[in-house]
Amino acid sequence: MSLFAFSDAECSNLATAHGTPCFAYRRSVAEASFSALRAVLPPRVRLAYAVKANPHADLLACFAALDASFDCASLGELKRIAALNLGPGRVFFAGPGKREEELKLALELGVRIQAEGFEDLERLDAMATSDVAVNLRVHPLGVEEGSRILGGSGPSAFGVDEEAVPDLLARAGSLMHVKIRGLHAFAASNQRDAGTLLAIHARIFDLAKRLHHDHGVLLEQIDLGGGLGVPYAEDETPLDLTTFGTGLAALLDRHPWFTGEVILEPGRFLAAPCGVYLARVVRVKESRGERFAILEGGVNHLLRPALTGQPFPVRAVGKAGPLHRTTLAGPLCTSLDRLGEVDLPDLAPGDLLAFGHTGAYGFTEAMTAFLSHPVPPEVWVED
Ligand SMILES: Cc1ncc(COP(=O)(O)O)c(C=O)c1O
Repeated sequence: MSLFAFSDAECSNLATAHGTPCFAYRRSVAEASFSALRAVLPPRVRLAYAVKANPHADLLACFAALDASFDCASLGELKRIAALNLGPGRVFFAGPGKREEELKLALELGVRIQAEGFEDLERLDAMATSDVAVNLRVHPLGVEEGSRILGGSGPSAFGVDEEAVPDLLARAGSLMHVKIRGLHAFAASNQRDAGTLLAIHARIFDLAKRLHHDHGVLLEQIDLGGGLGVPYAEDETPLDLTTFGTGLAALLDRHPWFTGEVILEPGRFLAAPCGVYLARVVRVKESRGERFAILEGGVNHLLRPALTGQPFPVRAVGKAGPLHRTTLAGPLCTSLDRLGEVDLPDLAPGDLLAFGHTGAYGFTEAMTAFLSHPVPPEVWVED
């Protein structure tokens, strides 16, 4: 599987046609990611694309046409999805700090809300005029995935701590309209090991079983969140979809008490592969023995490497030759503006670099306002 949605010739053509820096997303690759995952999942598993990974309108429409559901986490995302006029029951709304107007719109649109604490339940109950089914987001104990993004199972801004759930359920019993009818628990990020994902999911199903058996919660849905990983380097193995799908089916078989729906909310897995980011080299320099290439764009367009230390895969378009360790820096006046230390051929001003798997957490997470450089265009490519 290539880490780049476009060939060298296509990258050159895109750069000429649209200028650089730019992002490009390829429809056929987004469709292939969605279909490959869909194909291995049991029918009872619903795919809800996490809009935060990339809210580009064409990408959303592409997934909607494949019958995707959507996971939103802000007013803006809810509005983008509302514009697609989907049928009922295809939208979820999560987020640790939901504002009044967000909850109001979510109620109006009939989206399924992932309540992150008693405050969400209480505020919804006060707004609702008829019964509302919600999912309770629980921050599980004993799930050590080691993610910097979600923070493992230590203290967390997300959800209700598992040990606090009995108390919350007792208080929720007095609410008039709001009914807890699902569990949302999510403890993985960029996880490419099917066994690790399945172990986390098994742990969440055990938690669901306790909620059902010990506390009598009627569960229509178990939402396992996102976290399905993609490779960011040639030597990283992709998630084994067959093992994942088979394992999920076996998990469902081990829990015959649960006859509802399972929701998966992948963002990265569905969107990352379809995107490339193209930027040219502005300067090359040596500093105290280190080779630098300074590019037209940096963390103002691709912030993730600075946040996670994980560079995006990168290729020098149309260039070959011996590889040299090169630090890729952006044009911003901060030493945080680094896209990684990578092995590339000799670079010169004007050379085009293509960054792969940037369809997720690329443009959407960029700091485009910082230093007021031009905002890169996002190009949607239909095959
Ligand atoms: C509630 C929720 N669902 C889904 C996702 C998507 O995660 P990923 O892109 O790792 O699949 C996130 C990411 O932060 C999230 O917060």
